[in-house]
Amino acid sequence: MRLHVVTGKGGTGKTTVAAALALALASGGKKVLLVEVEARQGIAQIFDLPPLPYEERRIAVAPSGGDVYALAIDPEDAMLEYLEMFYGMRRAGRALSKMGIVDFATTIAPGFRDVLVTGKTTEAVRRRNRNGRRVYDAVVLDAPPTGRITRFLNVTQEVAGLARVGPIKNHSELVSSVVKSPETAVHFVTVLEEMPVQETLDGVAELRSAGLPPGGIFVNMVRESQLPQSALDQAATGHFDAAELVLGLKAAGLADGAEATALAEALAEEVVEHAHRTELERTERESLAEAGLPSFELPLLADGVDLAGLYELAETIRTQGAA
Ligand SMILES: Nc1ncnc2c1ncn2[C@@H]1O[C@H](COP(=O)(O)OP(=O)(O)OP(=O)(O)O)[C@@H](O)[C@H]1O
Ligand SMILES: [Mg+2]
Repeated sequence: MRLHVVTGKGGTGKTTVAAALALALASGGKKVLLVEVEARQGIAQIFDLPPLPYEERRIAVAPSGGDVYALAIDPEDAMLEYLEMFYGMRRAGRALSKMGIVDFATTIAPGFRDVLVTGKTTEAVRRRNRNGRRVYDAVVLDAPPTGRITRFLNVTQEVAGLARVGPIKNHSELVSSVVKSPETAVHFVTVLEEMPVQETLDGVAELRSAGLPPGGIFVNMVRESQLPQSALDQAATGHFDAAELVLGLKAAGLADGAEATALAEALAEEVVEHAHRTELERTERESLAEAGLPSFELPLLADGVDLAGLYELAETIRTQGAA
């Protein structure tokens, strides 16, 4: 795989997973480009860097060598680049830009905006150095959310009404050939809750019907159950015996008398809730399996995602064989 597109429901961890995947893919001496498209500076934030320019630059060193480069694509700059590449008119482009025409064009024709962004990304995938070798071993795209991903990637479809012949059409066909190639995989990030899981299944189906290649499912923020199955089974009935908890609290010297009873009852309620959630997560896992895609699980990091946490997630991705 050369192009890894990471999508998912908003807030489930697309940017986090894309960044960790880029680190995982780079490890062992590879060169990987991490691309962001929504002008949100999420990559800079996660790597604790100042805002990224529209320029590829090295942002991290991967475990056991290897480099992660990053690029924040700005649609306006991508358009200027495009005008220069196909019409040799960068200066004119700058003037147009000042007049707000670039903004106008990318706003009235969102399909055009998307083809600029995907075009820039696929150009990085195809780029070769003088010896004919690919410049990047892999490109990871922190993509728009599930609801928009198929339209975003289905570029030829989206610009069909815009251009039937000429450079835009040729360009979009080139982009499309990369996006639809076996070298591309569209990964879905989800958490084990009903809405994001349903959105993932719908997204996979939509992608398939558009002839686009689904990759893997990254189940993010997974919490390991702290309790043995027997305790979970008991609690799943809706009642968990507090008497044993009282004994435990007393033995540990944590509480005594009425205080121990009250605490044990509160804890028993927590256990019931935990058991219900674990049960729900199990059914969500089963639903996800219906997509028939490889699936990977990333733990919920208790302290949030700092740089160390990102490397930890990258390691998990590697050990599970996703990179
Ligand atoms: N495995 C994890 N453990 C703990 N916190 C996590 C984990 N993955 C993501 N987060 C946190 O969840 C929040 C959302 O993550 P992230 O920004 O990667 O999601 P996103 O899907 O890119 O969101 P958006 O839709 O806004 O772009 C962030 O605060 C991130 O630090
Ligand atoms: Mg994000």
